[in-house]
Amino acid sequence: MLSEKSRPVIEATLPVVGENIGAIAQRFYQHMFGEHPELLDGLFNRGNQAEGTQQQALAGSVAMFATALVEHPDRLPEHLLQRVAHKHASLGLRPDQYQVVYDNLMWAIGDVLGDAVTDEVAAAWSEVYWLMAFALIHMERGLYSARGVRPEIVWRDWEVTEKTRETDDVVTFRVKRLDDRPVRTSLPGQYVTVKMLMPDGVHQPRQYSLTRADDGEHRSFAVKRVRGDGKPAGEVSNLLHDTVDVGDVITMSLPFGDVVLDDSGRPLVFCSAGIGVTPMAGMLSHLVAAGSHFDVTVLHADADEESFAVRGQVLADVRALPNARMYVWYEQDATGTLDVDGRFAGMMDVSAVDLPAGAAYVLCGPLPFMQAVRSALIDRGVPPQDIQYEVFGPDLWQADAD
Ligand SMILES: Cc1cc2nc3c(=O)[nH]c(=O)nc-3n(C[C@H](O)[C@H](O)[C@H](O)COP(=O)(O)OP(=O)(O)OC[C@H]3O[C@@H](n4cnc5c(N)ncnc54)[C@H](O)[C@@H]3O)c2cc1C
Ligand code: HEM
Repeated sequence: MLSEKSRPVIEATLPVVGENIGAIAQRFYQHMFGEHPELLDGLFNRGNQAEGTQQQALAGSVAMFATALVEHPDRLPEHLLQRVAHKHASLGLRPDQYQVVYDNLMWAIGDVLGDAVTDEVAAAWSEVYWLMAFALIHMERGLYSARGVRPEIVWRDWEVTEKTRETDDVVTFRVKRLDDRPVRTSLPGQYVTVKMLMPDGVHQPRQYSLTRADDGEHRSFAVKRVRGDGKPAGEVSNLLHDTVDVGDVITMSLPFGDVVLDDSGRPLVFCSAGIGVTPMAGMLSHLVAAGSHFDVTVLHADADEESFAVRGQVLADVRALPNARMYVWYEQDATGTLDVDGRFAGMMDVSAVDLPAGAAYVLCGPLPFMQAVRSALIDRGVPPQDIQYEVFGPDLWQADAD
């Protein structure tokens, strides 16, 4: 809890910090990577740095955390922290690294705000930082210890046993353990971080959702090639597509991720678009493996049927479940040969289908898609806390932050 001494100082300086938080986050990363270039080798995602999305996510989280401390001093923004802790753990983050971020963040606050940062202001913001840091360190320690690992050993090498073309832009990799150590179980909906050695000698991590339930030996994930379209082409997705083949060895983390299946027995509704189908494929595969009788509705939107990745697997799993159905929306037109329960033209419109009462919803796809679907669901009376969503990048939305 924020101390009585710091609370009025944070309240008074929140507006100026909030206004400048974007600049602070930018200066922070520049300074930190200048001092610690090793953090760009295998830890930070340089695509997100180039796009500025990680800077925005960090700025948003600090501003939101400080606001929450002032408005509700007795509780922490649990969702926000969980998402960050899972992402950190999937990168093998260590508690001692929090000091490095602290030093550079405080430097950046001073650099941007100048004389406004009195000793009192610096002390109050240090308190906010360490409250957030200790909450994250505590969660991350819990995540590591639940899996019986230390941060250094979240990584393991896997051999590619299958590479399957799903669509023009998507391939699925199936990988197998190389030794006989047990494969840690994944929860339905979780992702792994894949760490690749880039041609310039730097390692780059990227997250990929697991598309199949565990079998004790393999993991599967599907990668969409990120085309440049005027900007630089995505570096890891293209490297995976173009250079990684059957027999190659890749480095992957244990599975993490806070957006996981609600297995309380409530009806489930999955709403995905494009490559956002991958966590849904993983959840369906887990449901089939468990012989589930849950009521499941799968809604998926794509450009057309040919672009719909892992569609054969998804439909087979829907058909293998006794209580599941699937509807699709294709932007071009409503043609296709998949034997689905309903096919529509245009953008996903949740009012076109009957949705079960009291369902738990999971959304995944581009941000505008998820924003539109979430709004439509809320308009239909779905409580926001029943809607989970996965963002394939730093979460710039933070709609369910608390
Ligand atoms: C939880 C989670 C789960 C995910 N699951 C999946 C999944 O199942 N399947 C999947 O395919 N993806 C998934 N992703 C996304 C994946 O992690 C990668 O982000 C994606 O593959 C792109 O990585 P990349 O290295 O190819 O692109 P990057 O090189 O990281 O580029 C990303 C974007 O940044 C732009 N960019 C790069 N450099 C610059 C620059 N200098 N200036 C301007 N713009 C620039 C690129 O044009 C591109 O649009 C997931 C992400 C998360 C967080
Ligand atoms: C209180 C301190 C910290 C806060 C508030 C914080 C916040 C965040 C947030 C909001 C994200 C984005 C999560 C998402 O939406 O996916 C993130 C990701 C990340 N954080 Fe932290 N973080 C902190 C400490 C650290 C430390 C100590 C390190 C290591 C030096 C670190 C390294 C990373 C990395 C590598 C990512 C992923 C970046 C990417 O994918 O672009 N963080 N953090």
